[in-house]
Amino acid sequence: MKLEGRVAIVTGAAQGIGAAIAREFVREGATIAAIDLKQEVNQVCHDIREQGGQAKSYVFDITDPDEYRRCIDEVASEKGRIDILVNNAAIAFYADILHDTLEQWRKTQAVNLEAIYWGCKLVVPHMLRQRWGRIISISSTQALATEGELGAYAAAKGGIISFTRSLAVDLAPHGVLANAIAPGCIHTPLSIVKGVDETQTEFFQEWYVRNQKIPLARPGEPEEIARVAVFLASDDCSYITGQTLVVDGGLTITS
Ligand SMILES: NC(=O)c1ccc[n+]([C@@H]2O[C@H](COP(=O)([O-])OP(=O)(O)OC[C@H]3O[C@@H](n4cnc5c(N)ncnc54)[C@H](O)[C@@H]3O)[C@@H](O)[C@H]2O)c1
Repeated sequence: MKLEGRVAIVTGAAQGIGAAIAREFVREGATIAAIDLKQEVNQVCHDIREQGGQAKSYVFDITDPDEYRRCIDEVASEKGRIDILVNNAAIAFYADILHDTLEQWRKTQAVNLEAIYWGCKLVVPHMLRQRWGRIISISSTQALATEGELGAYAAAKGGIISFTRSLAVDLAPHGVLANAIAPGCIHTPLSIVKGVDETQTEFFQEWYVRNQKIPLARPGEPEEIARVAVFLASDDCSYITGQTLVVDGGLTITS
């Protein structure tokens, strides 16, 4: 078990990639604090406990700095340590620069970037005390290549990559590693846009699958991101910091 005895915080753990990360971490021996806006995170933790794992859910909005602080304080006092933070929660909306709004921009930065900064600020003192820590932030291939209509999301995801580099330098002397993961097209509730599962559309099947814009010719599954997160959270990852691992079936290597 790669995460035996570790205490991990996972944001956005009610569904999709966050829920898969929570489950994989528990399978590898970690104790989980699972955060989400949605009540469904209670069920994710309930199911984990039913199978003998340790998981506690926290339902709140990560853009509320006081709520976030209360949660981290509680985990630290109950478990005595915080080893891993996975910054996974995010939102996305589709609109080009002519149709998006300042409110949408600000909300996206608040959830997808500022709350990541704040989460890191809250856990870092615990990691420094332990002289061990792993921070993993979920970026996106939208930070590297884009089809448009996702300006606020792409900017926040690019911000994660740059912030991760700076964080990695700040924390390297203290045994804390910070890395990011940039998923491509992953089959989750986020891939349902305006009621349609993007990965099932004729366009997706033709362009990404049959034409192999994605060389591996399929969308990824949340567990395939979770396995990479396990690696980055474990002692197997000992000489990688400040990096972004692209997990996209080859999407961004094709033109
Ligand atoms: N699915 C993809 O194809 C894909 C691709 C690239 C990157 N990503 C990234 O992976 C991560 C997970 O994506 P997903 O597809 O599982 O998304 P998802 O929408 O299925 O899950 C995101 C979770 O975050 C929670 N959340 C949103 N705002 C929150 C807030 N303010 N406070 C607390 N919780 C909040 C949501 O309630 C939801 O449960 C995100 O960072 C996303 O940007 C996903």
